[in-house]
Amino acid sequence: MSPTRRRRSAGQQAGATTEAETFDLVIAANRLPVDKVVLDDGTVEWQRSPGGLVTAMESVMAGREGAWVGWTGQPGDEADAPFHNEGIYLRPVALTADEIAAYYEGFSNDTLWPIYHDVIVPATFHRAWWSAYEAVNRRFADAVCEVAAPGAVVWIHDYQLQLVPALVRAQRQDVRIGWFNHIPFPPVELFAQLPWRKRVLAGLLGADFLGFQRVADAKNFVRACRQLGGWQTKGQNVVVADPPREHRIVRAAAVPISIDTQGLAELANRPETRARARELRASLGNPEVLMLGVDRLDYTKGIRHRLKAYEELLDDGQIAPPDVTFVQIATPSRERVEAYRQLREEVELTVGRINGNHSVIGAPAVHYIHHGYPREEMVALFLAADVMVVTPLRDGMNLVAKEYVASRTDYGGALVLSEFTGAYHELHQAFVCNPHDIEGLKNAMLHAIQTPADQKRRIMRALRRRVMAHDVQRWAARFLADLTGTS
Ligand code: ADP
Ligand code: G6P
Repeated sequence: MSPTRRRRSAGQQAGATTEAETFDLVIAANRLPVDKVVLDDGTVEWQRSPGGLVTAMESVMAGREGAWVGWTGQPGDEADAPFHNEGIYLRPVALTADEIAAYYEGFSNDTLWPIYHDVIVPATFHRAWWSAYEAVNRRFADAVCEVAAPGAVVWIHDYQLQLVPALVRAQRQDVRIGWFNHIPFPPVELFAQLPWRKRVLAGLLGADFLGFQRVADAKNFVRACRQLGGWQTKGQNVVVADPPREHRIVRAAAVPISIDTQGLAELANRPETRARARELRASLGNPEVLMLGVDRLDYTKGIRHRLKAYEELLDDGQIAPPDVTFVQIATPSRERVEAYRQLREEVELTVGRINGNHSVIGAPAVHYIHHGYPREEMVALFLAADVMVVTPLRDGMNLVAKEYVASRTDYGGALVLSEFTGAYHELHQAFVCNPHDIEGLKNAMLHAIQTPADQKRRIMRALRRRVMAHDVQRWAARFLADLTGTS
């Protein structure tokens, strides 16, 4: 695609009131890549937004020209003016405080998120939340149409914006529309719980191409179209009525996401990163085994299961500080949603109990950190960790697992990986676990600690081969080729 930017004057398209720029590539995601932070003195700072979606798409958009439509992370009645950030044109969408409660915390993260993650916590249904979801999706669609040049490629992301494909198509038949789901797509038996299931499917079927993390997710979607919506399907394809044409085919396929492997490897090879990794180990008392967990504080990540297994290993006397220690980094997330509040309380209580029972002076059993870190520090942590523990109960991909592998340019370390992550389907040579099986999880952790170093290096070599060959640029190229029909 040749990236071009065009200027359009006011009134050329319905809804455009000021001169706006238009682009051949438009990304729409709930969040912009940067969050607006208003400091106590009223000054505004822009900070990197949390989560795997932003990590991946930030790398994809670096070096491309395009627009990104999304929310700033702050409440407001009026959208901030569009601005450029690291070469990307950012087009903010305003969300009021009520919409944040109903569309973002409510429908997106208390209705859809649990249903799409095996109902680990029960989903909450409110008709008012659905209305807000519809209204906000409409606003996103209008913003997309405003910045999309004639014939543009529009790439919509994730579960928050499932109605946007059809809403954009209704206004703009000239653009090519793709949607990628960063999280799992649920089995039809769970998706069926959603009172608005058919309208969600119809929203998605406005796209030309739908990308999913796993083959199973794409199949779940096609099956839902057939069984719950009555659409005709054939293999990966759904047949959609499209007057005045006879019909339109929408394809749903697996395009597993990845990371900026080269960038991480380069960071890991820097002498200052290696020095920082040594410094981190030293500040932890140079334990024989440093175990690490890095997650958003989300109940899907299996943090409670991980801590339980670790606690039992300590109780059983199989490991003990100062020889072994655990660093758990938990980024704050969705803190006004009750299930997340409860999780934080439980995790902090558990960490307190484990430390009370097992720490020795100067050597805590668990180091718990509830904030984010810059990328350089994350890579130093990955390099410092002997065992990376990734135990989600359900996760679309889990980029952290891939980031750990990409950072281990020294072929050191060991990855304990849940079979309920998308990453497992590419990294099955890891120390695999079922996090619901606490005995099995304890064994996987012990195995990762005790396996001889040369064997671990062979495993890491195999994991790295996969991750290095399938990076985020390759993922984006494949998605765009599938979308534009050039694959
Ligand atoms: P999710 O998208 O559900 O949060 P992923 O593992 O796919 O999970 O992606 C998380 C992204 O956020 C990764 O790029 C990871 O490095 C980053 N991240 C997670 N926790 C932190 C943290 N405490 N500080 C900085 N980055 C973090
Ligand atoms: C996951 C989702 C993203 C989301 C991110 C952070 O990666 O797939 O869509 O942005 O989590 O969650 P938040 O609710 O803070 O945007």
